[in-house]
Amino acid sequence: MTPAILRSLPALRAITRPWQMNGARIGVVPTMGALHDGHLSLVAAAKAVCDHVIVTIFVNPRQFTSQDDLAAYPRTEAEDARKLERFEIDAIYCPDVAQIYPSGFATTVSVAGLTEVMDGVHRPGHFDGVATVVTKLFTQTSATDAFFGEKDYQQLQVVTRLAQDLDLPVIVHGCPTIREIDGLAMSSRNLLLSDRARTRAPVLHEEMERIAEGLHRHEDFETMRDAALDRLDKAGFGRVDYLDLRAADDLRLLDKPTRPARLFAAAWLAGVRLIDNIAV
Ligand code: PAF
Repeated sequence: MTPAILRSLPALRAITRPWQMNGARIGVVPTMGALHDGHLSLVAAAKAVCDHVIVTIFVNPRQFTSQDDLAAYPRTEAEDARKLERFEIDAIYCPDVAQIYPSGFATTVSVAGLTEVMDGVHRPGHFDGVATVVTKLFTQTSATDAFFGEKDYQQLQVVTRLAQDLDLPVIVHGCPTIREIDGLAMSSRNLLLSDRARTRAPVLHEEMERIAEGLHRHEDFETMRDAALDRLDKAGFGRVDYLDLRAADDLRLLDKPTRPARLFAAAWLAGVRLIDNIAV
């Protein structure tokens, strides 16, 4: 059955209030739509531990750094609703902008430290937009549990931090990245890749795996990174925003995986920005 689509905060509160009064676990999967199997794995994780599940679909204008990027972001609401049918969730919350940012809205949630590297540098203001909307979605849905993919690992760390710092009564669950058969991390933005670019896109993950294997053999990170950048260039990638080895908890730069670490990359391919990360 197609889940109920709720477009206003009063309609959302009408269904969540009795759940809250009964002390139910309310699982929320925040998305911007264009759902793929990565999102659906979050829905399955939410269904496994929560009494009620809400998927939110809101293309958040405050986390885009360019109007063109916002306009180009894929919007596939009817198809998204169809993909969610088999999960028997309680509702899809698709608010319009005024439900999230009513006239006079003047608050920004900003997380320091974790947002001052990688996408925080390359997409100024992005994480303020994410932190603000996620805080709103948590409070509007009365979430007790929220589910995010490790594909956006920096975002997951930022959201975990804000929930802790603001004493939000929500458990933030990080779920593994889901990949296409050729290794490309699933992302709504993959829909924007041309056929030709799509065949080249897995090279990013291949190069990351190659570095991870080298690190395992104690090879030098900088040397491996230079070689990877060269191969990405030859494979048709444009600018590489970063290809970093960082600590998994505070995202500090490392030159060796002396503590739990991850490799992070963001690179442009035919006008589409791909990001990925793996544990090393
Ligand atoms: O990961 C996303 O799709 C978005 O950043 C999120 C968490 C739904 C906030 O808009």
